[in-house]
Amino acid sequence: MYPIEQVEALNPEVTRMVVRAPEIAKKIKPGQFIMLRIDEVGERIPLTMNDCDPEAGTITIIFQAVGATTMRLAQMKAGDALLDFAGPLGNPTELEGAKRACVIGGGLGTAIAFPQAKWLYEHGCEVDVITGFRNVDLVLLEDEIDAHSTRQIIMTDDGSNGNKGLVTQALQQRIDEGADYDLVLAVGPVIMMKFVAATTKPYGIKTLVSMNPLMIDGTGMCGGCRVKVGDEYLHACVDGPDFDGHLVDFDDAMRRGVMYRTFESAAREGRDCNEGEGA
Ligand code: NAD
Ligand code: FES
Repeated sequence: MYPIEQVEALNPEVTRMVVRAPEIAKKIKPGQFIMLRIDEVGERIPLTMNDCDPEAGTITIIFQAVGATTMRLAQMKAGDALLDFAGPLGNPTELEGAKRACVIGGGLGTAIAFPQAKWLYEHGCEVDVITGFRNVDLVLLEDEIDAHSTRQIIMTDDGSNGNKGLVTQALQQRIDEGADYDLVLAVGPVIMMKFVAATTKPYGIKTLVSMNPLMIDGTGMCGGCRVKVGDEYLHACVDGPDFDGHLVDFDDAMRRGVMYRTFESAAREGRDCNEGEGA
């Protein structure tokens, strides 16, 4: 069992949880994920690491209560324990050698992008972090990012923090100002990553995107997490989760992303999946 040490609501939708898992904490690197299962009847879900403390033997995860499992997870308390917590899975993000990076987080993706920004900053890279949220109440990790970046730009869709616009507008502005990035890393909604990659492509800036399609086994066996990259289908769990943003077929990823919505909403409402949404 994997004891939960801390649980904290970061906003009405998002929870931060610290889990004791010393063997994983020794090995996990930015970009890698774990698969967890609450109990023997629970489904396995992948969650990308937000932070780790090898000395304390803990992993921090941040998740949005959107599905049946994450809603149950958000109800758990310090002192409870998870049945399975397997990892590290996937490949670490390739960050070595970057000198001027821009790390972009869209909504919850900010939590996943944070360890990369922190690693880059701690390894002498100049790091701009651009984050985007629907409104100021949903802003995540402002203090943590401030402490681990050269510059933080927070955008809101409704302008409620005084900075209205999408992350791509802030990115374009920084490029126009001469930011001269050698790496852009984007984590967030697929549509956001698509437009981040479209923004950097004319400038030939290396752009990595973190794909999080549906995952079942997390080991390359089930084929659920296929992502079209160039001419081939790769598996996000074993070949990714990061891919070259200029090669990913984002439209295909968005089509695949809606395929299981009916089953997910049935599971959330405790209905038989075969009843479908309209039943
Ligand atoms: P959201 O829909 O509120 O979007 C967050 C920000 O993304 C917006 O504020 C905006 O700045 C930017 N954005 C959205 N659409 C854009 C567009 N068309 N062009 C440019 N920028 C755009 O995000 P949310 O509701 O917090 O959802 C988080 C999303 O992140 C979910 O879709 C989730 O699946 C995804 N996510 C991805 C990963 C990953 O590893 N890739 C991890 C966690 C979450
Ligand atoms: Fe099954 Fe990737 S999750 S192949």
